[in-house]
Amino acid sequence: MNEIRTRVAIVGAGPAGLLLGQLLTLRGIDNVVIERRSRDYVEKRVRAGVIEHGVAQLLESAEAGARMLREGLVHHGVEIRSDGVSHRIPLSELADGRAITVYGQQEVVKDLVALRLDAGVPLYFDSDVTLIDDLNTDAPVVEFEGDQGRVRVTGEVVAGCDGSFGVSNRSIPRAELRRYERTFPFSWLGILAQAPPATDELIYARHENGFALYSLRSPTVSRLYLGVAPDEKLDDWSDERIWDELTVRLATEENPQINVGPILERGITAMRSIVIAPMRYGRLFLAGDAAHIVPPTGAKGMNLALADVRELARALIAKFEDHDERLLDAYSATCLERVWRAEEFSTNMTQMLHPSYDDDFENGIQRARLHQAVTSREAMTLLSRNYVDLNSL
Ligand code: FAD
Ligand code: DHB
Repeated sequence: MNEIRTRVAIVGAGPAGLLLGQLLTLRGIDNVVIERRSRDYVEKRVRAGVIEHGVAQLLESAEAGARMLREGLVHHGVEIRSDGVSHRIPLSELADGRAITVYGQQEVVKDLVALRLDAGVPLYFDSDVTLIDDLNTDAPVVEFEGDQGRVRVTGEVVAGCDGSFGVSNRSIPRAELRRYERTFPFSWLGILAQAPPATDELIYARHENGFALYSLRSPTVSRLYLGVAPDEKLDDWSDERIWDELTVRLATEENPQINVGPILERGITAMRSIVIAPMRYGRLFLAGDAAHIVPPTGAKGMNLALADVRELARALIAKFEDHDERLLDAYSATCLERVWRAEEFSTNMTQMLHPSYDDDFENGIQRARLHQAVTSREAMTLLSRNYVDLNSL
């Protein structure tokens, strides 16, 4: 078996693993990143698109923000539509001038991969981590199977950044963690379309047929989502049905139409919440989706993942530069406080914007909540601060 020695073995080349690698590399801390999928796959995987103010600053400080600053779209407001009536929330005005940047997750991934490969820092694609072991020793081990056969990486710390179905969280004995979980009775059908966005700002819509979201990626590419039943099959949604339903749910009297175009990408994602606590077992530290999942309403998933890594990098730098493990010992508790705030925000946004199909009492409550969210300055201020910068508050 091939042997590698490093300080930090990072499992997973999603936004969390790649940013952690970059932050450590900038401080000269030796690390390797191991990714099961191909480079092409991770660079094309279309997912989230909204970057919080503080997380955009984090990417800049990691010297990974140049293209985001050039190509990302800075938004100062967001629109909420409720049964055909439009309300604008002036995010920046209510959140001390801060704004969101609309920039696709796969662009963040591409930028971080390019930086790493250009600097010649180890990044193994097509390499499936099958074992994480010896976590209660000073020399934890990660084994993977790749082009070069079986490889054994011995580190001082393992960072589990391999998403919710990865190997990291499964390497923690069941008795050593608690898993909090909630499934929502909805999925999101998402499309990427070659169509100029019919809006300058994102639109979240609550319609009696269900939820809809109008987002974008560039002046010529729109990203749209429909809330659908959890057992809905993609094959039952023709292009025509998707566009018709989006149009119905997003229409207002002034804007009855949206721009349509060829669908470039489509998928259905189940909606759930998971929190794994603690986010540490021995020398293994979980970050991002490996430790928690939020429902997508409110766009917190990638932001949470990157904010975990900001914390983990800080703690690892203190360990390796100053031999101080206090931040590392506090890592899980520090992150979980923020993670539960994000769960609360995302749950609230989800419930407020997805009508129940069978509980009209619930619908009455949701309408009242939504009305307050778009008419009370205090409620709009709280929503704006959380939407724009929850992970840095
Ligand atoms: P990931 O991006 O999942 O990266 C984990 C990496 O680990 C992957 O590249 C995976 O291939 C790799 N890996 C897994 N197992 C192994 C192994 N055994 N060995 C080596 N590598 C391994 N959030 C939003 O805010 N808005 C959205 O619209 C949105 N849409 C989403 C759609 C989908 C289909 C999914 C799954 C998530 C979506 N999210 C969305 C959530 C957001 O994309 C995630 O929160 C974000 O990707 C988390 O980053 P991460 O680096 O923690 O995990
Ligand atoms: C996007 C995704 C979200 O979950 C969200 O709340 C807003 C925008 C997006 O993919 O652009």
